[in-house]
Parts: sequence; structure tokens; C-alpha cells
Amino acid sequence: MKVLVIGGGAREHALCRALSLDPDVSALHCAPGNAGIADVAELHPVDAVDGAAVAALAGRLEADLVVVGPEAPLVAGVADAVRAAGIPCFGPSREAARLEGSKAFAKEVMAAANVPTARSYVCTTPEEVDEALDAFGAPYVVKDDGLAAGKGVVVTADPEQAREHALACGRVVIEEYLDGPEVSLFAITDGETVLPLQPAQDFKRALDGDEGPNTGGMGAYSPLPWADPKLVDEVMETVLQPTVDELRRRGTPFAGLLYAGLAITGRGVRVIEFNARFGDPETQVVLARLRTPLASVLLNAARGALADEPPLNWRGDSAVTVVIASRHYPAPPRTGDPIGGLDEVAVRDAPHAYVLHAGTRREGDAILSAGGRVLSVTATGEDLAEARERAYAAVGRIRLDGSHHRTDIAARAASRS
Ligand code: AMP
Ligand code: GLY
Repeated sequence: MKVLVIGGGAREHALCRALSLDPDVSALHCAPGNAGIADVAELHPVDAVDGAAVAALAGRLEADLVVVGPEAPLVAGVADAVRAAGIPCFGPSREAARLEGSKAFAKEVMAAANVPTARSYVCTTPEEVDEALDAFGAPYVVKDDGLAAGKGVVVTADPEQAREHALACGRVVIEEYLDGPEVSLFAITDGETVLPLQPAQDFKRALDGDEGPNTGGMGAYSPLPWADPKLVDEVMETVLQPTVDELRRRGTPFAGLLYAGLAITGRGVRVIEFNARFGDPETQVVLARLRTPLASVLLNAARGALADEPPLNWRGDSAVTVVIASRHYPAPPRTGDPIGGLDEVAVRDAPHAYVLHAGTRREGDAILSAGGRVLSVTATGEDLAEARERAYAAVGRIRLDGSHHRTDIAARAASRS
């Protein structure tokens, strides 16, 4: 099978790595990719949000399957363009991707499907904003309705800051604060059948101890030794299946990866958000533990043929990933710095630890930083403590001037298990 992956972050590197290990995959392409993905896939330049360009590239490569990684192309309708060209595509239609593209739409779907989530109001005027803020009280949660690359949500005790964010966004969802640990649970679906993956936890704040600004994600681990073993079944029954059923009922079936961001509150599981694609960096740890070859599962999801797929098969070990970010990230980062130590990790830490590239590019013999999140150093081990040790040993070999990373990824979970 010939597979084309769209995107160029660490999530796409993890996807390409898993696909490259699948014996059914005879050719692997990625567009636009990055310097690390070039080791496992042939790279092609493309404007990832241009559906016609992606479909043309897939046609030229005679791809049997296109996998769309990031949200922006999905929300732009790239999966529709690929399918219209007669090529199976893993990724929801523009209509179904609104589950991520519009927080208000996601709330409407959850209400219709009776999915547990924070109570909320959609507000467009200053009067509505004030009323909603008063109704819920502090801490205030204000969310930009549209895609905002992880920067659309403000959680604050300060009503002025909440108000300011709301007015700057225009259309917002203001909602009840959910207290409790967060879990990311992904499911592969063809629009009808839903196959859950293993849960993971993401670290969204920039600094140790969950301090500092929100980021795209600074690290992740899986499994969650502290979670209720019935969590996946419960979320399947109360969240994932009803949401997939509701979108099908509306005539806009969701086929692709449904990402449920959950809070485990004192009153039960609540949805914080949906995404319409694999999470980054959670995918790095989830796929590290997946035994089932990935390509045919994604192809069957794309073709509407998941019903006969057996449950996914998981390794019993643990995985941890630590993100190395550029100087200043999540503020506009400094880029263009050379990255050292990659070969040392390949020689000394493989196969248990390896580096997945996010924002990198090659210039001659050098690999340079090219984005805010630069690398996602991933390791597996018998338990979280061993995976953590291996990941941080590899992180210690990487040299990137001005870079920063968290030192406490999976620390609490490792000490509790
Ligand atoms: P989102 O972009 O919706 O994932 O939100 C980013 C982060 O804001 C989440 O990971 C949570 O940590 C936090 N957050 C979002 N909604 C809520 C909520 N209702 N209560 C508490 N925290 C929230
Ligand atoms: N890790 C959060 C996300 O992918 O949105």
C-alpha cells in the first residue's frame, strides 16, 4: 500500500514512523514533512491547506491512502478534495471537522447527543459576556469559537482579563470551570464503528509544576496507571459513540480520528473539547505502544469498513515523550539554530528512545530549528519510571542553544505507580 501523510510535525513523524514499520506499506510519502520525517518517508512540498494541490499530489504518487495530520487542512476541506478525486482519505470532511473548528458547534452536537460537558453560553455582545461571566463566577473559562492553535482559551480568576479576551475574540463560548485531571482519549472511526485507542495525558503549560503560559503541549505519557480501568468503556459509551452517531444522523458522518479531551471531575467525566485529528504530543506515546499495524486500520476507517476490524492490540509497556522547545516559545520563537546530539541518541538510546522531529529543517549537513516545538523525545520502558529515565537521558544529549523543556513530564504518575 502507498501512503501519503499530510503535515510536518512530531505527530506526523510518529505516524510516519508507525506506518514505516507496517509491512503492508510499500511506499511512504509525506508532505511537507520535516528533517526527521525524511529518514522514513519521501518528502514533497505542498501547501497543506490547498485541497486541489493535495489531491493532485496524491494522484501523482498513486497513493492508496492519504492521512491528514493537522486540523487546519481538515477544517479547510482537504479530506473532501482527496475523496472527490477517488482516493481513500483518513480524516473527517470539512463539515464533520467543525467539531474542532467551532467550539459552539461542538457544544451543540454534545447537547443533541447528551454527551456530558461543561455548561456553557455562546456570547457575541459585551452584555452577553458579562451575564455569562456572572452566571458561572470564578475561575472563568473563555474560549474563542474558532481555531486558535491552542491560544484561544483563557482560564483566569480575573474577571477583567476574562472580559478582555472575550471582547477581543468576538464570538466566544463561556463555560463552567471543570476541576480534575485531564485525559486525552483518541478513537479511530469510519463514521459508524468506533475503535478506542489507549488514554494519554498531555502537559499543556510551558513550565514545571503546570506554571507559565498554555502551549501546544510540552510532553505526554501513556498509560495512566491512576485512571479507572473502566474509563475507556465509559467514555466510549457516554461520549465517543453518541457523538459519532449524532454526526451520522445529521448526514455529516465523522470518519477519521476523534479526539476527546476530558476532565475527570468529582461528578464524573466531562468533555473539555473535541479535536478532529490525532493530538500532539499524545500521539507520540500512544503509537509507541500500538502493536497492531496501523495502515490497514486507517484504510478501513477511510473506506467505511471498520466493523470487521478486531480490537487494537497494545504493548504492556509505558511511553513518555518530552518536547524540546525553541527559545521564547510559546511566544514567537527564535529559530534557525543548529541542533546537536541527534546521532548520539540514535547510537546510544535506540531502540528504546528516539527523537521525533517537529519544527526542524535540513541545511546542508546541519539540522536547524524551524518552529516553536522543535523535537519530541520519546521513550518506552517497562513502566513509566523507566520510560521517563530513558527519555530524559536522551533529552540530555540534545544540544540546542536557548531551548527549554519541562523536567516533570510523567513524574507524578511514575511515582504513584
Ligand atoms: P482547549 O483548547 O479547549 O483544550 O483548552 C485548553 C486548556 O484549557 C485545556 O486543556 C484545559 O486545561 C483548560 N480548559 C479548557 N476548558 C476548561 C474548563 N471548562 N475548565 C477548566 N479548564 C479548562
Ligand atoms: N495536545 C493537544 C492537542 O493536540 O490539541
